[in-house]
Amino acid sequence: MAKLSIIGAGAVGTSCAHWAVIKNLAKEIVLIDVIPDLAKGKALDLAQSSPLFGYFGKIWGTEDFSALKDSDIVVITAGKPRQPGMSREDLLNINKEIVKSCAEKIKEFTPQSIVIVVTNPLDAMVYVAYKVTGFPKNRILGMAGVLDSARYRYFIAQALGVSPKDVQALVMGIHGDLMLPLVRLANVAGIPITELLSKAKIEEIVERTKKGGGEIVSYLKTGSAFITPGLSIIEMAEAILKDEKRVLTCSVYLEGEYGINGVFLGVPVVLGKNGIEKIIEINLESEEKNILEKCASHCKELINLLKL
Ligand code: 2OP
Repeated sequence: MAKLSIIGAGAVGTSCAHWAVIKNLAKEIVLIDVIPDLAKGKALDLAQSSPLFGYFGKIWGTEDFSALKDSDIVVITAGKPRQPGMSREDLLNINKEIVKSCAEKIKEFTPQSIVIVVTNPLDAMVYVAYKVTGFPKNRILGMAGVLDSARYRYFIAQALGVSPKDVQALVMGIHGDLMLPLVRLANVAGIPITELLSKAKIEEIVERTKKGGGEIVSYLKTGSAFITPGLSIIEMAEAILKDEKRVLTCSVYLEGEYGINGVFLGVPVVLGKNGIEKIIEINLESEEKNILEKCASHCKELINLLKL
């Protein structure tokens, strides 16, 4: 059993800790936040749920980053969330400084850990963590594809009135409106969705998926989605801690895969005890390739704005 540290005790960090407790994923879960006592309060609340369903590990909160010591996985959720009308990119400079300081602490206190970045704009923030920690690329990844694919799968299941469990689909590219929900490969128990849904309905689902985060921001008004983001992080953490070799879409550093270099983008990977154990390269059709290239260019623009 492992140690999982979560930086940021906001909605996503707390939800992530909650799912980790429910799944008994780690013997120690630490919640860290710079706001005095916030992480302590959230962690204590979560700890008090343990007699009701039997979490047997330790969960605690602190403002002290030395608590990161000996973490197997560190999740960075710290940062400002979007408000209605904001794009994820609007957060670039505010969140860059936050992620940079988290990455410095991770490097100082737990240099062997695997880091999952969640802060937006996601693909640029993973890059910040990669540069600042200097960790090898198999140990730095971003959570977005699992969440975007879950939204895509849910919308398909809803349109067909079938169990979401039987829907398989993946969303590649950037965590933003340019993302690429793959239609060609989406299926229900092996049956392509193109056989089950009209072109117009598929188009509607694809568009809704791309704006899936924004739709929730517009309803919540004061923040962004947190329940499925929290579980998506835990899917990735669990795959790593249990060495499951899951195939999940994560934002990873590309060096020539898909003809793309020097940026983080969402692609399918194998996740196991070493973090990213393999990047899976699938053959894309030319329109899909174009979208992925657009995602890469957009990501490069963001990286240039970062001035690291
Ligand atoms: C979302 O898409 C938080 O970016 C996250 O909801």
